[in-house]
Amino acid sequence: MTVKLAVICHSGYGHTQAVADSVADGAKSVSDVEVSIINAADISGPESPLLAELDGVDAMIFGSPTYMGSASAVFKGFMEASSGRWMEQKWADKLAAGFTNSGSMNGDKQNTLIEFVTFAMQHGMAWVGLGQMPGNNHSGGSNADLNRCGASIGCMTQANVDEGGDVAPPPSDRETAMAFGARVATAAKRWGTTDA
Ligand SMILES: Cc1cc2nc3c(=O)[nH]c(=O)nc-3n(C[C@H](O)[C@H](O)[C@H](O)COP(=O)(O)O)c2cc1C
Repeated sequence: MTVKLAVICHSGYGHTQAVADSVADGAKSVSDVEVSIINAADISGPESPLLAELDGVDAMIFGSPTYMGSASAVFKGFMEASSGRWMEQKWADKLAAGFTNSGSMNGDKQNTLIEFVTFAMQHGMAWVGLGQMPGNNHSGGSNADLNRCGASIGCMTQANVDEGGDVAPPPSDRETAMAFGARVATAAKRWGTTDA
């Protein structure tokens, strides 16, 4: 059985897109998983065909930069466009997970992930966390550690604001994102398809 997973992402300057690509690569490394990346900016409103595409997936991974301590306005546009689906609980019992990237190491990223969890719970979805121990939290630790941001609700990454998405976030964050994508894909296979 093949399960379908979608990464729904917004990125203003390419950093979060780089993370989305790593998440998707990780998910694709798991057999029998079909992965698509949807740009939240392409979801124009409740009638968007991309929302209909999401009706057919088994798991969604939400990704947004943290802007002003929350998900970006573009990503919020997707969230609000989905309210018709919420009315029908059309996405109930699909898996959900999320990631966010910011300029500061903390940057109030937790708030963005909590927004994602709340959003998923409104839709009746089941949340999958990061599933990795925190890195860079002891004297021998470094920025090369996986999960150097020490997240658990979802995947957190940090990109220096003076560097482009080609180099920031650094390799350790991209590897963290890949492992996260693989985890959600594996969970989706265990959870099974939501098709009737
Ligand atoms: C409007 C705006 C608000 C931002 N707010 C925050 C913030 O609250 N915390 C933070 O650490 N960085 C903040 N940043 C920096 C971005 O999170 C950072 O540059 C990130 O890498 C952008 O991701 P993107 O390239 O995918 O858009 C902000 C950037 C912008 C443009």
